Amino acid sequence: MKIIQVKDQVAGGQEGFEIFKAGLASGAQVFGLATGSSPIKFYEALVASDLDFTDATSVNLDEYVGLSADDEQSYHYFMKQHLFDKKPFAKSFLPNGLASDIQAELKRYDQVIAEHPVDIQILGIGQNGHIGFNEPGAAFDSNTQEVQLTESTIKANARFFENEADVPTKAISMGIGSILKAKKIVLFAYGESKAQAIKATIEGPQTTDVPASALQLHDDVTIIVDAAAASQLS
Ligand code: F6R
Repeated sequence: MKIIQVKDQVAGGQEGFEIFKAGLASGAQVFGLATGSSPIKFYEALVASDLDFTDATSVNLDEYVGLSADDEQSYHYFMKQHLFDKKPFAKSFLPNGLASDIQAELKRYDQVIAEHPVDIQILGIGQNGHIGFNEPGAAFDSNTQEVQLTESTIKANARFFENEADVPTKAISMGIGSILKAKKIVLFAYGESKAQAIKATIEGPQTTDVPASALQLHDDVTIIVDAAAASQLS
C-alpha cells in the first residue's frame, strides 16, 4: 500500500485529482465513486478542473434502501450535487434504493460492474473499518449485497439527517470482492475518528472484523490521510 500524508483535505483532494488525471490520460474509462465527507474536496478539484468525463462511466459504491434518487439524503442526490450536475459522465450507475425486488437489483448491479470493470475506485472508510457499506463480518469475496447498517454507522451518518431515526437502516453496497476487482484503489481518510481503522487497515491482520483490511490483498492501493488519521500508525 502507498500512504500519502497530506496537510488537509484540500491537499488530499488534489492528490486524488492527480491520480484521476493520470488515469484518464492513460486510458481509464470507468471510475468507481464514493459519497460521504471524505471525497468532497476531491470532487471539488475535479469540478474546478478541465478534465472531461463525457466519454467516461461512473459506478458508485452504494445507496440507501428506501430513498429515491431525488431525496436530498440519497447518494444519487449527493453525486448530482457534488459532481454530476457540474461534471457529467457519459453513463453513471448507482444502486436503485427503491427497487421493489432487491434480489434482482443486486444481480443487476453485479452485471453493471461486470460490464464496466472499474479502472480507479475511490473509497472512504468508516470508523469501524467499513468500505462501501460492507460492515464488519462481510466476506472478502462478496458481490453486491443488501446490508443492515450497524449502530455505529447509523450514528456516524446521522449528521447528514435531521434525526437519527431518519437514517435508513439498510443499504445496497458493492461487495468487498467487487471492490477488490478495481485496477487501482484510492482511499481518503481524515481525522482522529479514523485513526484506529487506518491502523488496522494498514498494519493489522487481514480480518473480516476490519473490512478495509481486505485492501492488503490488492496490489495497487493508495491511502491518502491527514496527520490525525495517520496518528496511530507505527
Ligand atoms: C460512501 C461509503 C462509505 C463512506 C464511509 C466514510 O459511499 O461507501 O463507506 O466512505 O462511511 O464516510 P465519511 O467520508 O463521511 O467519513
